[in-house]
Amino acid sequence: MTYQEVLENARKTIKNCKACPECNGLACGATMPGPGSKGGNAHENWKAWRRIKLEIDTFAPNTAVDTSMTLFGRDFSLPLLTGPIGTMLQYSDTDVTVDFNDGVIRAAAESGVIACFGDGLAPQTVPGALASMERHGAAVIPVLNPLPNAHILGEMERIEKTSAFAVAVVVDSAGLGHWKHISKDEGPGSKTVEDLQLFKAATAKPFVVKGIMTARAAEKAVRAGADAIIVSNHGGRVLADAPATADVLPEIVGAVKGQTKIIVDGGIRSGGDMFKALALGADAVLICRPIAVSWFGGGSEGVRCYFDKLQAEFAEAMYMCGARKLCDISADMIRIQK
Ligand SMILES: Cc1cc2nc3c(=O)[nH]c(=O)nc-3n(C[C@H](O)[C@H](O)[C@H](O)COP(=O)(O)O)c2cc1C
Repeated sequence: MTYQEVLENARKTIKNCKACPECNGLACGATMPGPGSKGGNAHENWKAWRRIKLEIDTFAPNTAVDTSMTLFGRDFSLPLLTGPIGTMLQYSDTDVTVDFNDGVIRAAAESGVIACFGDGLAPQTVPGALASMERHGAAVIPVLNPLPNAHILGEMERIEKTSAFAVAVVVDSAGLGHWKHISKDEGPGSKTVEDLQLFKAATAKPFVVKGIMTARAAEKAVRAGADAIIVSNHGGRVLADAPATADVLPEIVGAVKGQTKIIVDGGIRSGGDMFKALALGADAVLICRPIAVSWFGGGSEGVRCYFDKLQAEFAEAMYMCGARKLCDISADMIRIQK
């Protein structure tokens, strides 16, 4: 199966998304519920990576490129996480979230990358994904919405008994205005440093905070004990006029690099984009929408096909810029255009 075929297949089954050749947030626009964003913010994320180019410098020993990453003591083939999607009703008339999570978790296990899943709305989502995780032996991070603390602590207690690789709370979901259209329950809201300290204390697993967009917020997450932060504006879905993640990443790296692991998402589409993110100081990247499209286009195999494409592109970028290991990737290997 080629990636082209994956996209063509996806176009036959997916809703609210045109499975575009380049997933740049233009065709889906502001479709929410659906995979769009607020005020075209997803496109801003995508555009920011386009301004960054790769510096060719092939003066290096002609040895093999090693794309592997170690995170929290475990080895992976790529510095890559799949993005959580709480409910696939955003893409489909029937709720295929459990199947989607199963396909992605299986592909992640087979390709040696990390899979995240969201807690969503349906009660079967979390147990379904945890069962897939145990079945496929993947490194999986459940990403919990900022619902009332008692709810989060209950979910964390359940997750603690499993082999989950880490546990995350997504703080920017406080801005998910469409939640009230699809659920009558109390929706997500903002959290304090003290709330996050409570969550950190409730787990022996690495604790991840998703949805950090300023150096100030990154410092608070570190104070709360975050073992990793995800620099993210939820794919542009929580606030129009938020800056692009690529634009805020350097400030956040400057503020907290070395105190916590830094993962970035939003508009990252290729192995070249992954290289740019690491050159700006990230330890790994997270990609969401193209994973959903790949699953609609070919199930688990479609997702693996996309991972293979990323792997080939990332290895090529490393080779052509003179990097042989992730730690060789540096800021002088990219050029930021005005
Ligand atoms: C349809 C859809 C649903 C999402 N649901 C969640 C979610 O439940 N939890 C979460 O942390 N992020 C969620 N996100 C955000 C993604 O995980 C990720 O942060 C973002 O989409 C990354 O940008 P990208 O799609 O441009 O790669 C969702 C994104 C989309 C498009």
